[in-house]
Amino acid sequence: MDKVESVKNGWLLIEGERIADFGTGPLPAADRTIDADGGFVLPSFCDSHTHIVYAGCRDGEFRDKIKGLSYEEIATRGGGILNSADLLHDTSEDDLYRQSMERAVEVMRMGTGCLEIKSGYGLTTEDELKMLRVIRRMKEALPMEIRSTFLGAHATGRAYTGRQTEYVDLVCREMLPRVADEGLADFVDVFCDKGFFTPDETARILETAARYGLRPKIHANELAVSGGVQVGVRYNALSTDHLEQTTEAEIEVLKKAGKTMPVMLPGASFFSNLPFGNARGFIDSGLPLALASDYNPGSSPSGNMRFVMALGCIRMRLSPEEAFNACTINGAYAMGTEAAGGSITRGKRADIIITKPLPSFAFIPYSHQTPFISRVFVKGSDMTDISDRFLPKCQYFTAGH
Ligand code: NIG
Ligand code: FE
Repeated sequence: MDKVESVKNGWLLIEGERIADFGTGPLPAADRTIDADGGFVLPSFCDSHTHIVYAGCRDGEFRDKIKGLSYEEIATRGGGILNSADLLHDTSEDDLYRQSMERAVEVMRMGTGCLEIKSGYGLTTEDELKMLRVIRRMKEALPMEIRSTFLGAHATGRAYTGRQTEYVDLVCREMLPRVADEGLADFVDVFCDKGFFTPDETARILETAARYGLRPKIHANELAVSGGVQVGVRYNALSTDHLEQTTEAEIEVLKKAGKTMPVMLPGASFFSNLPFGNARGFIDSGLPLALASDYNPGSSPSGNMRFVMALGCIRMRLSPEEAFNACTINGAYAMGTEAAGGSITRGKRADIIITKPLPSFAFIPYSHQTPFISRVFVKGSDMTDISDRFLPKCQYFTAGH
């Protein structure tokens, strides 16, 4: 993970959506040539864990948080995820699409080329489907490669307060079949943590999802050592995410599994005042690691992967190279797209960041607020001056927003 290969004074040839070739020496023939002007040409960020489809925001809870209320306390008071679910319920699908597209274009401008988006603010069958349909529209409208994850078990829907088992029944018997029937999800997720879903409930959901061919990506060990890593691995999870709290046991289980990517979310640790995950321990034990933004209204209202990279270095003691690999190729693995993206490789998607001239590679996370992007390409197209084109017209405002 500590190695980022590079060529000096290189060129890179894009054909259509793909990287056709790269090298040094005389330039190959091309229709258009862009001088990178001494900047770096990098693979785009692959953000494997986001919740960017949400309505409104939770700036009120931000005030409570500053006063000292924890994430759990806010959730217990009926705020948190349920607050976002209420807002989403009152928001039309078109308005939700518009708000979410704004965030997607925002992250594309910041160098993200590939993105995973979860449902989980619906918590009723119809509202979960509404979220997933919005993600489907985004997949169709945006050049970025997008993967969708069904997270019906993000919290127990308000109508089921005190009846969590029945809510899990609803997820398994009604939501999952509908989601699968409409082909709306690539993956399934469960918030397996203290105060949310238990390992047994998680197992039930993953067992059902497996029948529909949905591989898990699990929220685990954010608030406590939850058993979520173990249950995720048992059901062949592609990734287990959060991991603010882990022991040797989680490292051992993940090493044995061999195919489950640990994903840490330093933006959530930063914003929610949670411990930072044991990234060093994971990597030093021989495990790979991905970092993602967790862009969501409650625990991480930012999708800036360059900041995630900086937090990986500053707060998790990763080298700039380790942090970059965690934010690109390993993120691509955590959403099943590593064969087609996540690195500068012949034949892969031409998802590229051209940086301004920088003194060094380490400057990217070091001087992490200094603008560093000169141009971004997604699937071979230069997005730098045209990203506005993807913003739907502001015509969908509904009451309350
Ligand atoms: O990944 N931890 C659970 N879900 C989100 C937060 C959701 C929210 O607070 O809206 C997360 O941190
Ligand atoms: Fe999350």
